[in-house]
Amino acid sequence: MGENVIEIEGLLNMVAGAVLHKDLDLAVRRDEVMTLVGGSGSGKTQLLRVIVGLKRPAGGSVRVFGVSWTDPDRSKVRAARERMGMLFQNGALYSSFNVFDNIAFPLRRRGGLDETAIRGIVHSKLKQVELEPHHAKLLPANLSGGMVKRVSLARALALSPDLLVLDEPTAGLDPDRSERFVQLIRHLREQHRFAVLMVTHDLDTLFDLSDRVAVLADQHIIACGTLPEVRQHPHRFVQSFFGGDRGKRALDGLAVV
Ligand SMILES: Nc1ncnc2c1ncn2[C@@H]1O[C@H](COP(=O)(O)OP(=O)(O)O)[C@@H](O)[C@H]1O
Ligand SMILES: [Mg+2]
Repeated sequence: MGENVIEIEGLLNMVAGAVLHKDLDLAVRRDEVMTLVGGSGSGKTQLLRVIVGLKRPAGGSVRVFGVSWTDPDRSKVRAARERMGMLFQNGALYSSFNVFDNIAFPLRRRGGLDETAIRGIVHSKLKQVELEPHHAKLLPANLSGGMVKRVSLARALALSPDLLVLDEPTAGLDPDRSERFVQLIRHLREQHRFAVLMVTHDLDTLFDLSDRVAVLADQHIIACGTLPEVRQHPHRFVQSFFGGDRGKRALDGLAVV
């Protein structure tokens, strides 16, 4: 597998009969936080769907932990899938399951654990995301937006993944909650050292967490590197994304550190 948890080469991806991604290359290293940015509708969510195996691409190679989702050895595919946790844009909790059963879901699907062991893991995940044991009984409809994100994160962490995939993790949260969620992810990474591939257009989240940034524009990754490297790219999306006042201030801050 080498140093990369995700390796994409020459990806061709069609959505609704049209080319969405073409000649797209991207590699995410073990232990890094890679942030994917791009304009609205540029295909960030669709790219994550291909990476996690929810969507089959039309061409190219996609490997996660060295395994292609089309590998005929299904046990290898399953093992790779179980090393990955995902948090989708809207949380995507099962609405008829309470918090406990949502977090337990991946553990039960994998099998091999009795209910006592599952209970122990669910409660340790609740604690990791700073929720209380009594939250376990609540249904998703009764959770605040911030709590939905935390429960989704707990579920994504249930199998102790080596790779966490996050789509707009702080979208819809107010700045305070957003900041706390970012701190939580940073804290969890310090303890568990998983790699992260994250989509965000929130500059604070991006500056706080990213080791590297990849820019999706014109159907492929036009730039990939550290923030100061990517920032130099002349593409109009890069310039408008980082060139605003907030972007400039935050980058000035980085230069001082
Ligand atoms: N289920 C779908 N059917 C048809 N087109 C879709 C579907 N999902 C997304 N698209 C189109 O694919 C493009 C990329 O969508 P998406 O990956 O969600 O963008 P974003 O970068 O904002 O996450 C958009 O133009 C969108 O209209
Ligand atoms: Mg999206």
